[in-house]
Amino acid sequence: MGIRKRVTQAISIAAGGVLALGLAGCSGDDSGGDGGGGDGLVTVGFVAVGPEGAWREANETNIRETFTEEAGFDLRYAPARNLDQTSQIDAFTSFVDEGVDVILLSATEGSGWEDSLRRAQEAEIPVILIDRGIEPDDDSLYVTRIAPDNYEVSQGVAEWALSAFPDGANYFVLEGPPGVSVVNERNEGWNDVIGEHPEFVSLGAQTANWSTEEARSVFETVLRSNNNDVQIVFAQNDEMGLGAAQAVEEAGLTPGVDVQIATIDGTRGALEALADGRLSFVAEYNPLFGETALEMVNQALEGEEVDSYVIVPSGTFDSPEAATAALPDRKY
Ligand code: AHR
Repeated sequence: MGIRKRVTQAISIAAGGVLALGLAGCSGDDSGGDGGGGDGLVTVGFVAVGPEGAWREANETNIRETFTEEAGFDLRYAPARNLDQTSQIDAFTSFVDEGVDVILLSATEGSGWEDSLRRAQEAEIPVILIDRGIEPDDDSLYVTRIAPDNYEVSQGVAEWALSAFPDGANYFVLEGPPGVSVVNERNEGWNDVIGEHPEFVSLGAQTANWSTEEARSVFETVLRSNNNDVQIVFAQNDEMGLGAAQAVEEAGLTPGVDVQIATIDGTRGALEALADGRLSFVAEYNPLFGETALEMVNQALEGEEVDSYVIVPSGTFDSPEAATAALPDRKY
């Protein structure tokens, strides 16, 4: 998404209705659905991704540890079955039918959400997107999206590549699953920078589905079919970057010397690999935004204005020294 929308979106009158519904839910008055949390709790339906890797584990754990009963919430966690969108749509529909006060959605697929989102809107249940966007991006269908800016994060990886290889390089991109919003945003951010530099030659792009083993296998083939003449791997998450490093080593080469591998996420495993020189650049995609999500939920239920895209700040790590310095305090 080249142009990020920061349009402030006033919560509609309908959302004012949500306030009534939400408070009704809080008061235990089940005149609406039975989504009321009873005991004055705000009911939150979390349509989640579930097991997917270290980043997802950190993000969903942080959300679940934030929306506690002590904080006034009844969080209902619904992870996808095997990353299957149908199971997410089923959970979403159940939350609408239950009349929860608010829905958090981390979408396994970028498209196919319009009907569900419209049902929530008709039921006056605000929806907040966690991490993943929807395509087409119609921000009238949700209150806000909370995530680091994928476009800018991947632009940062591309800027590092330009600085690391001033005369250009051959590169390969290991992508996340097709159809996932962040994959398209990361491709756009990388391509909008690298595409301006013909001295950077693409040897191709292929999904490895966020997986270390799949990335090892894919990149093993890429090295072999290019006679090891690959200087950069842009791996769109840490796990795939670590898989590429394994493939480099199995080819008798040295990651960080023969092939520079850059990743996105900033999980502990990646920073340890950067400290060891097996990765060369790690762009953080900060997963710890539970508190921000809680603030946005409260603002939505109180009918306050909320930006349609709340950007989570994220840093970068460009050396073993930077990774070593960050590791002791790393929370994920
Ligand atoms: O949507 C965020 C991406 O999903 C992370 O970069 C990746 O590790 C996760 O699986």
